[in-house]
Amino acid sequence: MKSTTMCVLVVMLVGSIMGKLSPPERSYKILMLLPVSTRSHRNVFMPLAEALADRGHKIVMLTNQPKSSKHPNIEDIPHDLPYFREEDINFFENSKNPSGIFQLFETALPTLARELYKVPVVKDLYERRKEFDVIVIDHLFNEAVYPFLHEIPFITLSTSGMEPRQSSVLGNVLNPAFAPNFLEDYPRPMSLWHRLYNTFVHIGFPLYWRKWSVVPQIQKEISAQFPELPLLLDLERNVSLSLLNSHFSISTPLPLMPSQVEVGAMHCRPAKPLPHELESWITGAGSSGVIYFSLGSVARSTTMPVQYRDLFIQAFRRLPQRVIWKYEEELEDVPDNVMISKWLPQQDILAHNNVKVFITHGGLLSMQEAIYHATPLLALPIYGDQPRNSMFIKRSGLGDFLIWEELTVDVIVDALTKILNDPKYEENVLRISEPLRDQPVPPTELAVFWTEYVIRHKGAPQLRSPAAQLSWVEFLMLDIIFLFHLAMFVLLFILRRIVRIITDKIFGRDGKIKKKND
Ligand SMILES: *[C@@H]1O[C@H](CO)[C@@H](O)[C@H](O)[C@H]1NC(C)=O
Repeated sequence: MKSTTMCVLVVMLVGSIMGKLSPPERSYKILMLLPVSTRSHRNVFMPLAEALADRGHKIVMLTNQPKSSKHPNIEDIPHDLPYFREEDINFFENSKNPSGIFQLFETALPTLARELYKVPVVKDLYERRKEFDVIVIDHLFNEAVYPFLHEIPFITLSTSGMEPRQSSVLGNVLNPAFAPNFLEDYPRPMSLWHRLYNTFVHIGFPLYWRKWSVVPQIQKEISAQFPELPLLLDLERNVSLSLLNSHFSISTPLPLMPSQVEVGAMHCRPAKPLPHELESWITGAGSSGVIYFSLGSVARSTTMPVQYRDLFIQAFRRLPQRVIWKYEEELEDVPDNVMISKWLPQQDILAHNNVKVFITHGGLLSMQEAIYHATPLLALPIYGDQPRNSMFIKRSGLGDFLIWEELTVDVIVDALTKILNDPKYEENVLRISEPLRDQPVPPTELAVFWTEYVIRHKGAPQLRSPAAQLSWVEFLMLDIIFLFHLAMFVLLFILRRIVRIITDKIFGRDGKIKKKND
């Protein structure tokens, strides 16, 4: 699976499939909006942006991040506002107090909505938004830029995979009896308790976000600046298509609308050769193998509390494996079997045969890479969808997860030893990895096709479900149920009357029946 011949084969296959799309009718102008995003959100956008740019389209990206793409057809426009910058957030601190992260949204997002359109580059972009053929928007936390969507076809890119709240907007209301929420994943079939809790999150979170707290505050700021505009949530309903960063083989198979397209793991690619030093460090580990440890870009190792860091150092000292640790600072007292580096070619490391376990924060992109390159996982979730991904890892037998507060040296050593010594974990990862790669076209190409499709068909109204236009009363058929009850009531009333008239005719008045019964 991981051998170079396999890689060559995959490259050939990908190469021969790529380019099957017919050439675009013209160069489109595409606006990508991710003014509230993390680096990993952007990493979901980049493969699509680059593939579209390669086809000659012009991409403009409004982001909260520094310029990154060197592609001549991609123009980055950073808004440079200081609200919601991941480098300012300590996610370890926030995970102790889960409401902390929501408080952050409640203050940062309305402030951003107030300030954003005062930024000259944003104002200019807003004024010329009609130049664009389509908008692709990051579906999470970006209500502040919904004014851009007015009268322009738009697509949401769901970076965290399926999100039931977003699915409902398209008219596909997912059933909490089997569709997990975006924070947690449960053993199957779900127990009564899990279904109860899941139902609560399915209903409670959208109510909190859209009706009670965040969106109403953003709406107030936006209405003050754009009094003519329809309500933000009405603009959102006009969505043409949703691209989901998920795939049924690595999440839950769910009923999807034609307007919901799974394009998960777009950023995964066959391995490239490793730098010489890394390659020899990994092969030099011999048959014991190598553990790769990275907490991704948002939860940097440097924000990791010192006591946890020391536990890992002690645990690694006790292991015969070599460890590659992505850590952003110098570390003292590191045992000889540990290599520290600020930046590492993660996919190429995971693809290496001798890399046996990936210790991860359970970020979706990291999990997709590990599955794609068939490496078992030990997850240490911190916040957001990481608990969900970690529960999926355990449920599917791809590895295990640990709770930060319960860490000891023994816990870490035991968990790693278990995964390293039991071949079932690698077998399970391979069993999921193969169907993830077994697709008729690569996910990036699928995303390109559907993006161009929405442009070609002027917003593709044929994709829209009539369910999206219904109110809750209509959708749940409460009016029909009410009418049905009313009809039953009237029918019973009439029947009773008829029976009464007939019995009166036969037996005479009440008194006489009584007499008869006596
Ligand atoms: C809704 O979408 C269609 C096609 O995508 C677009 O032409 C129309 O202007 C949109 N309506 C609003 C109110 O944005």
